Amino acid sequence: MPEELRFDGRVVIVTGAGAGLGRAYALLFGSRGANVVVNDLGGGRHGDGSSSKVADSVVHEIRQNGGKAVANYDSVTDGEKIVATAIRAFGRIDVIVNNAGILRDKSFAKLTDQDWDLIHNVHVKGVFKTTQAAWPYFKKQKYGRIIVTSSNSGLYGNFGQANYSAAKMSLVGLANTLAIEGKSSNIYTNIIVPTAASRLTEDILPPDFFNELKPELVAPVVVWLCHEDSTENGSIIESAMGWAGKCHLVRSLGSNLRTKITDVVTPEDARNNWDDVTDMSKAKRCESIQEASLELMTVLKVLENPSQDQTHEAVARYSYTSRDTIIYALGIGATKENPTDMMYLYENHPKFSAVPSYYVIFGPMTMVNSDILQRATNGLNLDPAQVLHGEQYLEVHKQIPIEATVETRYKVLDVLDKGSGALIIMQGDTVDVESGDLLATSQVSVFAIGSGGFGGPRNSRSLIPTIPVPDRKPDISRIQKTSIDQAIVYRLSGDFNPLHVDETISSIGGFEQPILHGLSSLGFSTRHIIDTYAYESPELFKALKVRFSKPVIPGQTLRTDMWREGNRIHFETTVIENKNKVISGGFIDLKGIKMQPIQPAVCSAEEILECDAVFAAISDYVKTHPDQAKKINGVFVYNITSSGAAKGQWTLDLKKGEVYKGDLKSGKADTTLTVEDSDMVDIALGKLNPQVAFMRGKLKIKGNIMLTQKLKALMDANKSKL
Ligand code: NAI
Repeated sequence: MPEELRFDGRVVIVTGAGAGLGRAYALLFGSRGANVVVNDLGGGRHGDGSSSKVADSVVHEIRQNGGKAVANYDSVTDGEKIVATAIRAFGRIDVIVNNAGILRDKSFAKLTDQDWDLIHNVHVKGVFKTTQAAWPYFKKQKYGRIIVTSSNSGLYGNFGQANYSAAKMSLVGLANTLAIEGKSSNIYTNIIVPTAASRLTEDILPPDFFNELKPELVAPVVVWLCHEDSTENGSIIESAMGWAGKCHLVRSLGSNLRTKITDVVTPEDARNNWDDVTDMSKAKRCESIQEASLELMTVLKVLENPSQDQTHEAVARYSYTSRDTIIYALGIGATKENPTDMMYLYENHPKFSAVPSYYVIFGPMTMVNSDILQRATNGLNLDPAQVLHGEQYLEVHKQIPIEATVETRYKVLDVLDKGSGALIIMQGDTVDVESGDLLATSQVSVFAIGSGGFGGPRNSRSLIPTIPVPDRKPDISRIQKTSIDQAIVYRLSGDFNPLHVDETISSIGGFEQPILHGLSSLGFSTRHIIDTYAYESPELFKALKVRFSKPVIPGQTLRTDMWREGNRIHFETTVIENKNKVISGGFIDLKGIKMQPIQPAVCSAEEILECDAVFAAISDYVKTHPDQAKKINGVFVYNITSSGAAKGQWTLDLKKGEVYKGDLKSGKADTTLTVEDSDMVDIALGKLNPQVAFMRGKLKIKGNIMLTQKLKALMDANKSKL
C-alpha cells in the first residue's frame, strides 16, 4: 500500500464547511490526521440568517470518526476571528481552504447594489480577511497552503451570474498574486474550480448530472493541493466527478499593427491585422508578468529596428519519447552492426541517449509548416517546390533529454538577395517546456531558387559560416551504405515531404529519383564523428555546422572524411558511387575528445578508394550472413592499384568473418588479388567478368586460385546493393 498523505500536527481551516464541498473537505482532512477548524455561518443560500447547527454537526462527524475538530460560526468577512479560533484551539495554522459562498443570481439588468455587495463581501472580502489574518503565521513559520475557490461561471461567464462571475474571477487575480508573494516562504496558493452537487447547484445542474457530482470526488484534489509534498503554486485546477485538470490563460502570437516606431496606428491597421491578432493556433502561456512584458519589449525593438523584424516568428511545440529518438536513430543509419549504436536504439541500454543531432529535425519542419517564409519575404513570391535546405547549425546547451516536451521558437534573421535566389536565414531556440531550460539553438538557411534580384542585402553578419576543411588528406574516414529504405524510415521523424518518397513529385522537382533528406546524411556523419572522436559519449557534443551541397539517393554509400583540429572535427561527406560531395565545409565542436579504442573495419586514414563502397557492402553482408562467409572459409587480400601504383588494401578474412580495410592483421592469406580500383568496381557491378579480367591480366591472383570461385556468390549477393 503506498504511503498515505497525512496531516498529523497540521491545522486546517475550511470556511463554509457546514455543507456541500466544504463539509467533504473537512471530513477528509479530519480523517487524515489534521486538526480542523470547521467554519460556517449556517446561513441561507442567499446569505440570509445564521445558525451554529451545520458547523457543529460536521465537527461531531469528524470527532466520531476519531478526528480532531472545532467549530467556528463567524462570517468569513470577520476572517481574523476564524484564524483566532485556530490559534486558540490548536496553537497554529497551516492550511486555509477558502470555500464559503453564496449566490444571488439575477440577470444583469436586475442586479441591485445589495446583490453586488453581498456576493463580493462573502467571496472576495471573505478570502482577503481570512487569508490576511493567517498570512503572518505562514510567513513566520515559512509554510502555508491556501486554496481559493473560483468557478466556471467566472472563467467562462454564465447567464444571470454577473455579480458572482465577477467575484469568482477576482479571486483568480488575488490568488495569482498570493502565489507570487508567498512562493519564497513556501506559501503556495492554488485555485480550485469545482463542480459538485450542493444546494448552490441543485436548481442549476440537470438532475442526472447532479446525482453523479459528489463533493467527495473533488475533496481529494483539494486535500492533495494542501499537502506539504505538493509543489503546485498559482494554478487553476478544475475538478468534478473524480476528474481534475489544469487551466491556463494563453496569448496569441499577436501582430505588430505598425512597421516602425514613427508610424501611427489607425483603427484600420487594427482591422487589417485582426486575423493575426486573434490567431490562436500558436497561442502560448506567459509564465509571468515579466515574460509577458519582455515580449512587448521585443515588439519595441522590432519597431525601432524594422529590418530585424522578430515578429516573423513561428512557434512549435513537440512532445517526444524514447520511441521517437530511436526512430530518428534508425533514420540516420544507426545499426546493430555497429555495436556502439545500440545506445541509440535500445531504451534499456545503460547509456541510452538521443543522437545529439536529434534537434535538427524540429527546425525545418517548423518552417515548412508555418507561413514564416512567406511572411518574411512578403512580395517575393516563393515557389515552395523550389525552396532548398541550404545550411544548418545546431548548438546543444544541455544534453538532449530522451523524452521531453519542447518548444522551438523561430525568427527570421535576414533575407539575402543572392541573385539566382533568396537566402533566408532563420534562428530558433528550443526550450524544455517543463523546466524552462534552453536546450538548443539552431540556425537554418534555406535557398529559394529564382526568388533573387529583389535588391536586398547580399551578406549577413548573422549567418554562422561553414569552414573549409584543412588542406591535407583526411585523418580518418568512415564509410557506410545507406539503405534503399533510408528516406522512408527517416521521414517517420516528421519530414513527410513527398520529394523523398514519391517518384512523381521528385521528378517535378527535377530529380531522377526521390532523394534522401539532407538531414539524414547529416545524421550519418554526426554518428560517425561521435563514434570516432567522442566514443560512447554523445554528451561531449557541442555544436555542428554544415552546408548541403548535393543530394543523396537512398542506397548510396556515404563516406565521412574527418580532420581533427583540437576539439573541432572538420568534415565533408561524399557519395562514393558518384564522388559527389553532399556535405561541405562541415564541422562538429566537441567538449573533449574520447577516441574510439579500436578503429572499426572501414575506419582508416589511408587513401580513399572507389571500391571502398564494394567492400563496405561485402562487410555488411558478411556480418549479416556469417554462415555464407564460413562456407567460403578463405582469407583474401586485395591489393588495389591506380594506374599500376599501389593505392590501398582490403582484407576479407572469411575464416574469422571479418572484412576490413588494410593488410591482413595476422596469419597468412590464402589468396592475394591485385586489381585496379576502377576495375574492382566494374567487377562488382557485373560490368567486367572476373574471368575475362584475369585472362587479360587486369586481375592478378596469387595463391589458391580455386578459392576465388567461391567469391562469386559473395559478389552476386551484393551486386544489387551497388
Ligand atoms: P454550499 O451552499 O453547499 O456550501 C457553502 C457553505 O458556505 C454553506 O454551508 C454556507 O452556510 C457557508 N457560508 C455562506 N456564507 C458564509 C459566510 N459569510 N461565512 C461562513 N460561511 C458561509 O455550496 P457549495 O456548492 O458547497 O459551494 C462551496 C464553494 O464552491 C462556494 O464558494 C461556491 O461558490 C463554489 N462553487 C461551487 C460549485 C458547485 O458546483 N457546487 C461550482 C463552482 C464554485
